[in-house]
Amino acid sequence: MSPSGSKATRRAFLQQSSAAMVGGSLAATLAGGQFAHAAGNDTLKIALVGCGGRGTGAAVNALNADENVRLTVMADAFADQLNKSRQALAAQFPNSDKLAVNDDQAFVGFDAYQKVMQTDVDVVLLCTPPHFRPAHLQAAIDAGKHVFCEKPVAVDPAGVRQVLKTAQQAQEKNLSIVSGLCWRYDYGVRETMKRIQDGAIGELLTVQENYLTGTLWHRGREPQWSEMEYQMRNWLYFTWLSGDHIVEQHVHSLDKAMWLMGDKPPLHCVGLGGREVRKEEMWGNIFDHFAICYEWENGAKVFAFTRQMKGCEGDVEDYVVGTRGRAKLLRHEIEAEEKWRYRGPKPSMYDVEHKELFAGLRSGNIINNGLYMSYSTLLAIMGREACYTGQKITWDQAINSPQDLSPKAYEWGEVPVPAVAVPGVTTFA
Ligand SMILES: NC(=O)c1ccc[n+]([C@@H]2O[C@H](COP(=O)([O-])OP(=O)(O)OC[C@H]3O[C@@H](n4cnc5c(N)ncnc54)[C@H](O)[C@@H]3O)[C@@H](O)[C@H]2O)c1
Repeated sequence: MSPSGSKATRRAFLQQSSAAMVGGSLAATLAGGQFAHAAGNDTLKIALVGCGGRGTGAAVNALNADENVRLTVMADAFADQLNKSRQALAAQFPNSDKLAVNDDQAFVGFDAYQKVMQTDVDVVLLCTPPHFRPAHLQAAIDAGKHVFCEKPVAVDPAGVRQVLKTAQQAQEKNLSIVSGLCWRYDYGVRETMKRIQDGAIGELLTVQENYLTGTLWHRGREPQWSEMEYQMRNWLYFTWLSGDHIVEQHVHSLDKAMWLMGDKPPLHCVGLGGREVRKEEMWGNIFDHFAICYEWENGAKVFAFTRQMKGCEGDVEDYVVGTRGRAKLLRHEIEAEEKWRYRGPKPSMYDVEHKELFAGLRSGNIINNGLYMSYSTLLAIMGREACYTGQKITWDQAINSPQDLSPKAYEWGEVPVPAVAVPGVTTFA
């Protein structure tokens, strides 16, 4: 499967678009799973699954991306989250027919996503905590929906393998999967990357990936919440839900490293990390810092550092060193024989993701980011496991690992919190 887009033939477009014009919604034309993409100004109906901060933002991006897009379905595990998002969207789009969510199309609970897949929406925005992504993505592709898929795409190797399989099925059904690994949609990063890949700094030697930040939110504990609800509301701090912050946040940096390496997996990695400051029970079972060295077959190395701590040096940048120069991806700068800096247009990468998704649905350029979003997620997971265990972890070991962090049941009851990992003691299945 190609990690980028695939162009449908014009003949297929004409055959399919005439079918598409018959039904009001394109999803109605998906009999047999063969996608008929949108002709000229067909209305594209979208659903939002996971109505938190990013989901609400993604819905705004999607609604602004195309004239004829309507949000008709929303789903969340919690009613208060869904209502908050609905109100925020109503404030952003006052009196607009772009917002068309009837009460009977607002679904709540663990199974809300399944109800979404039974509706006639064309595109689903998957924006829950990462644990749920493999199941939600599979349900969307099974139902013939196009997808915007937030990062990361899984928290464990079992989830990554499921996403790889689903992405292959999407390719076969001609369904789009646009990834929320948003730097791939940033014009400045794209142009800097292109120049590096065209040889501007010679052969790639090393990359230093820094994601050194402060702390994020914590939503407290309410007496009426079950343990499951508490963990779901504070999902960042539980590895089964977020993958830990190396997977949840640093995946943005690791994705750029993977891109620099031509989306080829590394051989192995070693790393160190721990929990120096966030020691209390409220911080679940995640670490607060990681440092990893990944090595590729050609000897190229990626040194990846991530930290979430107050009062420490902050830096988010990708430092690339080649045989004939160096570059900073986020600053879009290259220093080689000649200095270069990107000075072109800088639209929001969050808007560009959706503009390219919807433009692709109109033109037949079906985008499938399934391969790289899975590999970059696995790169983060193998780094986490190297740090949790203190062992060298190979790519083969990671991609074949049976590790599956799912809870026994999706019910509002007890969920045990595993012990914080101890390097040299904790093992990786
Ligand atoms: N690309 C980016 O720059 C970027 C930025 C922020 C967040 N994200 C990603 O977006 C995702 C969501 O992050 P957020 O900041 O919006 O978190 P959030 O906590 O604000 O929102 C998550 C929402 O999902 C809901 N939810 C949880 N489990 C659910 C389930 N099983 N079914 C339906 N809804 C469920 C929650 O109730 C909540 O409303 C994460 O994967 C995060 O890593 C990406």
